[in-house]
Amino acid sequence: MVHNPKTDKTFTLTNDQSGESIKLPVLEGRQGPPVIDIRKLYAQTGHFTFDPSFTATGSCKSRLTFIDGEKGILEHRGYSISDLAGKSSFLEVAHLLLYGDLPNREQKDEFEHQITYHTMVDEQVNFFYRGFRRDAHPMAIMCGVIGALSAFYHDSLDINDPKQRELSAHRLIAKVPTLAAMTYKYSIGQPFMYPRNDLSFSENFLYMCFGVPSEPYKVNPILARAMDKIFILHADHEQNASTSTVRLAGSSQANPFACIAAGMASLWGPAHGGANQAVLEMLDQIGSVDRIPEFIERAKDKDDPFRLMGFGHRVYKNFDPRANVLKAACDEVLEELGVNDPHLELAMELERIALEDEYFIQRKLFPNVDFYSGIILKAMGFPTSMFTVLFAVARTVGWISQWKEMIEEPTLRIGRPRQLYTGPVARPYVELEDR
Ligand code: CMC
Repeated sequence: MVHNPKTDKTFTLTNDQSGESIKLPVLEGRQGPPVIDIRKLYAQTGHFTFDPSFTATGSCKSRLTFIDGEKGILEHRGYSISDLAGKSSFLEVAHLLLYGDLPNREQKDEFEHQITYHTMVDEQVNFFYRGFRRDAHPMAIMCGVIGALSAFYHDSLDINDPKQRELSAHRLIAKVPTLAAMTYKYSIGQPFMYPRNDLSFSENFLYMCFGVPSEPYKVNPILARAMDKIFILHADHEQNASTSTVRLAGSSQANPFACIAAGMASLWGPAHGGANQAVLEMLDQIGSVDRIPEFIERAKDKDDPFRLMGFGHRVYKNFDPRANVLKAACDEVLEELGVNDPHLELAMELERIALEDEYFIQRKLFPNVDFYSGIILKAMGFPTSMFTVLFAVARTVGWISQWKEMIEEPTLRIGRPRQLYTGPVARPYVELEDR
């Protein structure tokens, strides 16, 4: 059933200088605030709008993910994130995002088969890795190798062919984990582990990261389930920076491998996917519980660039529902592994003090998904530099589903924001000898 967001409501905008008014259509989605349709604003008034960080701008229609930041709600295709994280597998969620529904048994088997049988990468890709220094940041390698995939899979680059689009989507969901595991193996000087088709998505990922050819690797089911949950919690998050990057790159009709590489680059930053690494680095920097007040004061000081990493969110102004699920998973994993991580004690105390502090209360700054994910991932044996890569493995599903949704829109046009020009105007050219 297609939802038509048009209403007969309008929003009147009056120019204070000329007194002229225009009525702008108001659109309503199934949930969320109404949206003023300004597509004809420039043609009708000669004015652009100005919203540099997109705090009040909807860039697209989407049926994938709904967030209500005030109430702490996150839903994929109408299903709550806590139900999905509690009851589904990552590949079921991937099917949901990509095709619109949770798969029935037959569809589940078929989808799992498709993904499983695309996990190997062209053998030639292995040689790319040798071009990187061993101490390269894993995200630097990922940006390169994902982009390079478009040089290998020429039979799925025609974005106008639905079958080719689907094949690219399957390839990306299947191969990004393999490339991520190879990146890790390369960084520690161990041989690459080829994927195993008898294992589930997350089991296989742990095997490719932690297995070695010289002995059998037994997957711990609690860790595999925790990995799957972490992937589900990071699978999609509406029009965040990296997803918007993928959509903008795709709007020029670039191939999907190139678009996902663009998303990968955007995710890397510490304000986005790089925050999980930054949280552990921050906990290391704080070092002990007695130093927390000092760092809280620094986070509040506008002259100090230090921020509490893993705190705050552009959309969530109550709590991040993903953080709640992860906090519980974190306890389970640490107990299973018998890990007594001082980072956890530090994190809990930091959370407690920050949540009672007027600065954080007033600005509605709560722990986000990255606050706890780093602690679990560290306990599972991943180095901090791999944390953002794991986020990318999961988010590839969201990126490619959003890309597919965009390409299927009949009205797709290249994304082309405008600007408020503040530079010099009509300067007479100055010859070199006169400058
Ligand atoms: N520590 C201290 N102060 C903060 C923090 C923080 N982590 N986050 C926001 N503030 C303050 C900020 O200084 C501002 O104060 P004031 O109103 O006095 O100027 C106010 O809160 C609003 O912040 P903002 O920068 O306008 O908010 P934003 O929506 O532009 O930024 C954010 C959102 C997530 C980038 C930011 O909260 C942040 O940098 N957090 C730390 C990094 C982090 O954990 N990122 C992961 C986000 S969740 C995973 C993902 O989606 O990728």
